[in-house]
Amino acid sequence: MLPSHQTERLVADTAGIARAAQLLANGGLVALPTETVYGLAADAGDDRAVARIFEAKGRPRFNPLIVHLTGAEAAARYVQWTDEADRLASAFWPGALTLVLPLRAGHGLSPLVTAGLETVALRVPAHPVARQVLAAAARPVAAPSANPSGRISPTTAAHVLAGLDGRIDAVLDGGACTVGVESTILGLWDVPRLLRPGGIPAEAIEAALGMPLAGPDASPSDGPSAPGQLASHYAPGAPVRLEADGPRPGELFLGFGPMDADLNLSPGGDMLEAAANLFGHLHRLDARGAPIAVAPIPERGLGLAINDRLRRAAAPRD
Ligand code: TXA
Ligand code: MG
Repeated sequence: MLPSHQTERLVADTAGIARAAQLLANGGLVALPTETVYGLAADAGDDRAVARIFEAKGRPRFNPLIVHLTGAEAAARYVQWTDEADRLASAFWPGALTLVLPLRAGHGLSPLVTAGLETVALRVPAHPVARQVLAAAARPVAAPSANPSGRISPTTAAHVLAGLDGRIDAVLDGGACTVGVESTILGLWDVPRLLRPGGIPAEAIEAALGMPLAGPDASPSDGPSAPGQLASHYAPGAPVRLEADGPRPGELFLGFGPMDADLNLSPGGDMLEAAANLFGHLHRLDARGAPIAVAPIPERGLGLAINDRLRRAAAPRD
């Protein structure tokens, strides 16, 4: 999005909610109220729309985003639903609880939403305006807090505009958020883990589950976990070489800009397109099982987040 973009101020009436849903369906960015904080929403199935979230926030790295849904029935379409998830959803959804669960095959979410991980964070917000937008949009919506990277989370439409005016398509004004802190995040891929404290107290979750919550990191006493799901960062299985002029024998080449390559992040050198393609292309090349060489990506705009991710992928591992 161009910094000169006009940000629409929407009132949370029937017309404003319909407009927000229409913008989302067209790949737009809409800041909307939830009971915790304002979220910067985009269609979670649209690579380009999700890339625009990172561009608007000026995030120097891609971290996985929370997908917002209308209810537990919708959630079960995207993840491997469990009895524990069901118990927690009955107790706390709609509300300030986010559940991280293993993805189902054919989920259709952008790999940029999950930062290439095999799990996804899901939440059903309680705010009536958020619920109406989700129902009208009829699609899963990715939404981090609607603030520029490094700034505090917004709890009013004025906070959103102070940080993002001119960088997003619209803000839907639903008044002040009542909870005021982000949702509590629970990992449910092995034992229930508290990944981030938030609006729902850990004690209430432990009471609903009838067991204590583990910490974010697996320790040996926690038993085995599925590989790749605990890792906070996706990395290809094969070695990755950066700043490559071209492939060496046996390497697959991931290009950027006009050049011959096995796959190209953006033949036209467009950062938004490159970000949108990043995880999908890495997964596709990784599936071919050969080392990957990557063309240089300029260190500007979304290039910072792209290069951060590529450097992690290329870092030495055990
Ligand atoms: O209350 C909230 O949760 C707000 C409102 C807008 O819903 N959203 C929010 O999103 O706080 P965000 O992007 O600021 O925080 C998302 C957090 C990140 O810290 C990320 O690490 C974690 O969720 N997360 C997302 N997906 C994950 C995954 N697959 N595994 C582990 N952590 C994940
Ligand atoms: Mg945030």
